[in-house]
Amino acid sequence: MCGIVGCVGLEDSKNYLIGGLKVLEYRGYDSAGIAMIADDEVHVRKAVGMVAELEKMCHDFPRKGSVGIAHTRWATHGGVTQDNAHPHMDAAGNIAVVHNGIVENHNALRTLLEREGIKFKTQTDTEVIAHLVSKFYEDDLAEAVRLALREIRGTFGIAVISKKEPNVLVAARMGSPLVLGVGKDCLLLASDAAPILPYTQQAIYLNNGELLKATPQGYEFFSLDRTSITPKIEELDQQLESIELGQFPHYMLKEIYDQPTSLENTLRGRLKAEAGDVHLGGPGLSLKTIHALNRVIIVGCGTSFHAGLCAKYLFEEFLRIPCEVEYASELRYRNPIVRPKSDLAIFISQSGETADTLAALRELQRKGCRTLGIVNVVNSSIAREVDSGIYTHAGMEIGVASTKAFTAQVAALTLFALYLGRSRDFSSFVLQEMTESLAKIPTLIEDYLVDTTQIEDIAEEVRNARNLLYLGRGYQYPVALEGALKMKEISYIHAEGYPAAEMKHGPIALVDENMPVVAIATRDRTYEKVVSNMQEIKARNGKIIAVTTEGNTDIEKLAWRTIYVPHTIEPIQPLLTSIPLQLLAYYVAVKNGRNVDKPRNLAKSVTVE
Ligand code: AGP
Repeated sequence: MCGIVGCVGLEDSKNYLIGGLKVLEYRGYDSAGIAMIADDEVHVRKAVGMVAELEKMCHDFPRKGSVGIAHTRWATHGGVTQDNAHPHMDAAGNIAVVHNGIVENHNALRTLLEREGIKFKTQTDTEVIAHLVSKFYEDDLAEAVRLALREIRGTFGIAVISKKEPNVLVAARMGSPLVLGVGKDCLLLASDAAPILPYTQQAIYLNNGELLKATPQGYEFFSLDRTSITPKIEELDQQLESIELGQFPHYMLKEIYDQPTSLENTLRGRLKAEAGDVHLGGPGLSLKTIHALNRVIIVGCGTSFHAGLCAKYLFEEFLRIPCEVEYASELRYRNPIVRPKSDLAIFISQSGETADTLAALRELQRKGCRTLGIVNVVNSSIAREVDSGIYTHAGMEIGVASTKAFTAQVAALTLFALYLGRSRDFSSFVLQEMTESLAKIPTLIEDYLVDTTQIEDIAEEVRNARNLLYLGRGYQYPVALEGALKMKEISYIHAEGYPAAEMKHGPIALVDENMPVVAIATRDRTYEKVVSNMQEIKARNGKIIAVTTEGNTDIEKLAWRTIYVPHTIEPIQPLLTSIPLQLLAYYVAVKNGRNVDKPRNLAKSVTVE
C-alpha cells in the first residue's frame, strides 16, 4: 500500500506534505514524490528511497502553495525508479496525480491512449489516470477526474491537482482509504488520520465511490454519478502521542512497551473480572444466533492469522464450536462452503485494509455468511463492511512488524469467546478464572518489561544464525509461528514455526549446533511432551532457547538459554509467551543494523492481492 497526503490553503504546505509522508512512511517507502501549485506552476520533485531522500531534493521547493499533493510508494506495477515514483503527470505537465491502489485495466487503457498519440513515460498503472484526466478535461477538474475514474477498473485512493485550476484539489476513493481533515482555514487530505492529527480533530472519511472537491472556500462531495453528498464530520479519537516516538529508538520497541496500556484499552469497559463476566456491545448477536452457531471461520493474513489460530484452540476446547482458521488469500478462491444459518466468519485485521482479507470478507458475505470484524483502525474498509465488530483499541501501530496489535487481537478474541460462552455452556467457574486471568495480563507484561537485558544478550548470541526453528504445542503453536514471523520479517534471518511434535517428521534433519531452536515449554498439559522434543534436539547438539514459566528451573538442564515468563492459564498464556519473542526479533534486527520499523520489501498493510 502507499501513503497519500494533500492540502489546500495551508501557510506551510511543504511542511505538511513532507511531514505527512514521514508519518505515513510505514505504508510504503520505495520512493516518494511531491507536487504543488505555486506561482501558476506545477512544482514536482521525486526520489527513490525514504522520504528523507525526497526532502533533500526540496531545499528550493516552494514552502507555500495554493494546493499540494505528495505520495510515498510501495511498488506494485513498475520497478522502484525515480520515473515510477508518484506524482504522475499528463503529457502537457499540467495535471499531477498520486494514487494508492491498482488500475486492473491499465494495459487496455494504455493501448487506447497510445493509439491516440500519448507517449507514456513510466511503467506504472497510475500514469493512465493522469492522461485520462487530461483527455476529459475541459474547464472542470473535478468533472474530468470523475469521467476518468469511470473508465477505471480496480481500486484507488487518488488526489489530483492542475495548474489550470490552482485552487482546486480533487480526491476520490474506491477501496483505498482517504480522510479529509477539516481545519480552521485549511483542508488536509491523507490516507489515514495520523498526518492530520497535529492540525485538527475534525475529519471526514471518504466512502467508496465518493469524489471530493476541496478549495480554500470549502469542500463538496459527489458520488461518481455526480450526485451531491452531505458528508459526516467525525471527531478523531487518536491521540498525538500514538504517532510520536518519544524516548524510544523505534516504533516497534515503543509498541512492544505499549502493550500493558494497549491491552488495558482493549479490555476497558468490556471485562468485568470481579463479576466473572464480559460486556461486548459490538457483536450484537442475539441469543438465538449464539445458540445456533455451529461453526466459526476465522480469516486473516500474517500475524492476524496467527491470532486467529490462538482462538481456534479456545473456541473448540471451551465453546465446543468447530473453528477453521484460514489464510484469506486461500479461502476466497476455494469456493468456500458457507452455511448462512449457523456459520460465523471472523475477519481479523490490524489495518482493516488488507486486500486479501477484504476480498475474502466480500466473498463470504456474497454467500450469505454472517461476519464479525476484529479490527484496530477505526472506520477502515473491513470495519465498515463487516456486519458487526470488536475494535481492538490498540492505538496506532506504526512499526511494520505487528506486536501490540497481535496481543490486542488475542485479547479481543478471548473476550469474544467469553461473550459467546457466557450464553452457552461456560460454567461460572471457567468465566471467573478466565476473566480474572485476563485482567492480570497488562500488569504482568508491565512487570516483565522492566528488565529485558537477558533477551538482548540472547539476541547477541544468535544474531549470526542463518536459520532458526520455533517450536510450540497447543496454544503455543501459533506463538511459535508468530515468533518466527517476527524474526524473519525484521531481521531477514530465515525462521520457521512448527508444531513441536512435527519436528520429528522432517525438520529435525536441520538441527545441528548452528541452528538455534526456540522451544516454548510452558507448564501446561503438553509440557512433558515438549520436554521430550527438546531432548531429541539436544541429542543432536541443537542449541535450545527455552521459553518456560517462572520457577520451572529443571528445564535449564536441557536448554542452552532459558527465558522465563509469568504463569497464567493455558488459553491466556500466549499473551505472555509472545512478548520475549517480539523482543528477540527486535534486538537481533537492531544488532544486525536492519531498518526495524520499515523492513525491506514490506509495508504496514498490503492493500494489493
Ligand atoms: C505482521 O508483523 C506483518 N506486518 C503482516 O503479516 C500483517 O500481520 C499482515 O499483513 C496482516 O495485516 P492486517 O492485520 O493489517 O490485516
